[in-house]
Amino acid sequence: MNIGSFSLANKLFVAPMAGVTDRPFRQLCKSLGAGYAVSEMVTSRRDLWSSLKTSRRANHEGEVGPIAVQIAGTDAAMMADAAVYNIDRGAQIIDINMGCPAKKVCNKWAGSALMQDEALALQIVQAVVAACAPQNVPVTLKMRTGWCQSHKNAVTLARAFEQAGVQMITVHGRTREQGYGGQAEYETIAAVKAAVQVPVVANGDITSPQKARDVLALTGADALMVGRAAQGRPWIFREIAHFLATGTVLAPPLVAEVKRLLLDHLLDHYRLYGEYTGVRTARKHIGWYVKSLPGGEIFRARMNALDDCETQVRAVSDYFDELSGHTDRMPSASSDPQEYRQEEHTESVT
Ligand SMILES: Cc1cc2nc3c(=O)[nH]c(=O)nc-3n(C[C@H](O)[C@H](O)[C@H](O)COP(=O)(O)O)c2cc1C
Repeated sequence: MNIGSFSLANKLFVAPMAGVTDRPFRQLCKSLGAGYAVSEMVTSRRDLWSSLKTSRRANHEGEVGPIAVQIAGTDAAMMADAAVYNIDRGAQIIDINMGCPAKKVCNKWAGSALMQDEALALQIVQAVVAACAPQNVPVTLKMRTGWCQSHKNAVTLARAFEQAGVQMITVHGRTREQGYGGQAEYETIAAVKAAVQVPVVANGDITSPQKARDVLALTGADALMVGRAAQGRPWIFREIAHFLATGTVLAPPLVAEVKRLLLDHLLDHYRLYGEYTGVRTARKHIGWYVKSLPGGEIFRARMNALDDCETQVRAVSDYFDELSGHTDRMPSASSDPQEYRQEEHTESVT
């Protein structure tokens, strides 16, 4: 699997998730079998680039390449500027966001709302491709199947974007109207795959190795992208890789291994965010790790009362020590995508 001149370790990708797939989380997923990860979106608004949030998002220190940065916006010239700004800060691939349904993005006519204005969408793609070409940086794009059930234009757009020079297209198998509700459908992704020559990535509701195999078969896609199912379960990538390679199911990880990797994840997280923000933003990750474990809900609630790194680390460590007294291995969770509420995704694009 290649994007431009970059050859990827495998065809399992981490989905960009604002507020989730920061550098520590992407690194963790890559160390557990993901071949590629796209950063959280960075706004095309120049006035926000110096904000702490954006500068953290543009920090790729130590990340295993290729470094892919997603940009979001509504103005072709600003998007082109944002591409160059991020290339200057280490981006090796630029991904255009046309998949995000968050209100703060869509009200500004960005994200998946752009799919409704095909001319503007194409103008943005052309401007970004032109800005990236001198530096030989590939441009990729992520979109949905369309705006609504009666307006599924992913195939038309994919053809136009390919003509304009986009080198990989990811399709989330829902319309903008669906948000995160209902089920992802894969027919439209298969139709996009059949319509273009560039690699196509299938995304949406891939929650298990078996589902990964089925989505590959249904779509003929070149790669798979996993989002919510990796929250608190970053080892899903190696489980999928193992199943696709061997047809057998890998045993769930040992509790001791998960304890170690969660503690490492927390330390890396604090290093990026500092103590105050780090402890608070780590809570949601810890909550995802423990959500289906015995006493997980109570532990999750307790976490909210702890506000320094040392006590958070100690509480996590004690929780997993206690758990390993009862069981060696994690349960083989099959995450239900419907558990994730749409309100979870209310990130602003800063
Ligand atoms: C919390 C959250 C944040 C997201 N942020 C982005 C984003 O910044 N850019 C983007 O293209 N998609 C974003 N998405 C959409 C995901 O990349 C993905 O398309 C979607 O979750 C469906 O895949 P899944 O079923 O594997 O989760 C986000 C989704 C969630 C849940």
